[in-house]
Amino acid sequence: MKKIGILTGGGDCPGLNPAIRGVVYAADKFGYECVGILDGWKGMIEGKTIPLKKEDVEYIISQGGTILGTSRTNPFKKEEDVKKVIENFKNLDLHALVAIGGEDTLGVATKLYENYKLNVVGVPKTMDNDLNATDYTFGFDTASTRAMDAAKALIDTGRSHRRVMVFEVMGRHAGWVALFTAIASSADYVCLPEKKIDGKELIDKVKKAYSRKKFALVVVSEAVEIMEEEKDSLKTQEVDQFGHIILKERGMGEKISKFIEKNTGIETRHAVIGHMQRGGEPTLFDRILGTRVGIKAAQLVRDGDFGKMAALVGNEIKGVPLKDATGELKVVDKNWFELIDILF
Ligand code: F6P
Repeated sequence: MKKIGILTGGGDCPGLNPAIRGVVYAADKFGYECVGILDGWKGMIEGKTIPLKKEDVEYIISQGGTILGTSRTNPFKKEEDVKKVIENFKNLDLHALVAIGGEDTLGVATKLYENYKLNVVGVPKTMDNDLNATDYTFGFDTASTRAMDAAKALIDTGRSHRRVMVFEVMGRHAGWVALFTAIASSADYVCLPEKKIDGKELIDKVKKAYSRKKFALVVVSEAVEIMEEEKDSLKTQEVDQFGHIILKERGMGEKISKFIEKNTGIETRHAVIGHMQRGGEPTLFDRILGTRVGIKAAQLVRDGDFGKMAALVGNEIKGVPLKDATGELKVVDKNWFELIDILF
């Protein structure tokens, strides 16, 4: 029986387990055996696996996180680690590897396919929804829904105390989570990394909303560009193995909250949803999308169509070149700016 390895890398998100389950169900149908590689690329470096049979994954569709574990390990950081990945591919007798991940994990998969001719296929995931070549990634719907629910709770307490509430959400350098949360929770203003904050506009809008209802909600993306006047307050920025700034250290919600209080005189509080928005049960949308892209990945393996990623294009799941997904990030583009102007 030919063997398929499955790994999940990068930040976890709801939908990973449905995707693993999708691969295993389809692989079983096509006559392949599956093994789970533990903790992302770290598991490929160390050769750590667990068996993955249909009965092991039957009920994981409703579980958040990933049963395989994950890490932000980058095997291309050290030459010997890349060698170990290739050796373990052989030692584990893998016919193919399904890498489920975002920009970083799929970037590694692309290099392994292009430079080392490994039989790799990709499955896109990320709560940030910032991958090119796919319309949506699973994880995004759940994370934004969770943030929308939290925003509703902030509105209740903010209204009661007649305060301005500032809500910081994750999303890395793409503002999709902040934008969708802000729209869905009737926020008064949204700060996105794609739009430089205009401090005067922010204060005017908050004052206007507050004078009407004695309350205002501002949604802030963690990666938003700071206003010129606040630049000095940025701490030194630590980076991960892929060179990304660890954004939670920037505390943008707090900074914007202080800026608002200072410039309006209105009592303002901030809240950060952080990793809470990344855990928990996947929504219906993410369960279905995860399942569909997982199944497609196994179909790509069966068809020998390596170097591809299972992508959502319109309402179809298609195989697209892995490198198209990782070349450039998909961020909130100008087509959204008029809508933003109308709503906020
Ligand atoms: O990429 C997903 C994400 O949740 C980002 O939105 C966030 O900036 C980052 O991961 C947090 O990473 P970590 O879990 O390593 O702190």
